Amino acid sequence: MIKLKPEFSEALERAGQSEQLSKSDLVTFLNADEEESKALFQAADQARRRTLGDEVYFRGIIEFSNHCIKNCLYCGLRRDNKALARYRLKPEEILEGARETARLGCRTLVLQSGEDNYYSADMLGELIVRIKEENDLAITLSLGDMTKEDYLILHKAGADRYLLKLETNDPDLFSRLRPGTCLEERLQRQIWLKETGFQLGSGNMVGLPGQSFKTLAGDVILMRDMEVEMAGIGPFIPNKQTPLAEVPGGSLELSMKTLAAARLAMPGAHLPTTTSIASIHPQGRVKALQCGANVIMPNMTPRQYRESYMIYPGKLGLQDTPEDSYKRAVQAVNEAGRTISSSYGHSLKYEKKCVGI
Ligand code: 5AD
Ligand code: SF4
Repeated sequence: MIKLKPEFSEALERAGQSEQLSKSDLVTFLNADEEESKALFQAADQARRRTLGDEVYFRGIIEFSNHCIKNCLYCGLRRDNKALARYRLKPEEILEGARETARLGCRTLVLQSGEDNYYSADMLGELIVRIKEENDLAITLSLGDMTKEDYLILHKAGADRYLLKLETNDPDLFSRLRPGTCLEERLQRQIWLKETGFQLGSGNMVGLPGQSFKTLAGDVILMRDMEVEMAGIGPFIPNKQTPLAEVPGGSLELSMKTLAAARLAMPGAHLPTTTSIASIHPQGRVKALQCGANVIMPNMTPRQYRESYMIYPGKLGLQDTPEDSYKRAVQAVNEAGRTISSSYGHSLKYEKKCVGI
């Protein structure tokens, strides 16, 4: 007979009845023991199947510049990391990458970079227009903090979604880890993005120094309250070339529990199996797909630049070509017993708007 704590069973029951989960319900999930974790992952997997089905959306990601003006304590791209060889893809290389992404079968292209002032919103806008003219791709941008005017230009050019992660909802931790920035401004930008018309992607890191289960549960609650359409949830991985070199990283178990809790709190959200979860465990991607995730992000960055987009060590697929990375993602989806979607995978809300419901 499997023994689950009463508060755990009650929280799971509330999730099963689609009741609004409280922060303490989520803390209970994060405290799950081994048996409870199994039940939690199963419930999250069922919730994902019920709301989104068995299809997995492929979002090919091109990391087109590793220059960054910010100095986040956890990230290898931080300004003060002088050991990193910096690169920028030329517009023609980005266009070629986009063609390859579409050719391989992805229906979304994610353009990601550090905060690099070299590319103006107008330049990026022109690129977005050309990519959309040439390919049948939805576009997600992940370019960090910009002005509201810039977001407007990018959306007008045709970008569909924007990924600006919460990282953590603890205001002190946020400002400590991201010097010169604050949580309030981050949230303001997320609101701008929504007002602009973007589908909003958020997310957090699991296992940050000074983060408690309460903090993690608070991340999920805030993402739900902000009605984010996507959330990238993955472990923090210490990087030797950063001030957090000696801090322990987030575990696979806690990352999975957070992902599962997020699925139960936000049943309709798009939740990727993050590259970070894949990088700390060979089965990380498959496991994430089995506890709530419904999106996979094969790396479409040309091979010669991959070693330099070293946000954290041990990143998956450093020696791979885009085609290798695509195949690797297909393999994970197959192993998880799921199917590949042939649609864009817009947010459910957006899809409904589009068909006029
Ligand atoms: N470990 C895990 N994820 C990280 N990121 C940055 N540094 C790390 C790290 N050391 C994530 C952040 C950021 C994205 C670019 O990468 O969530 O939003
Ligand atoms: Fe730059 Fe983003 Fe890394 Fe911070 S997390 S240093 S903003 S790339």
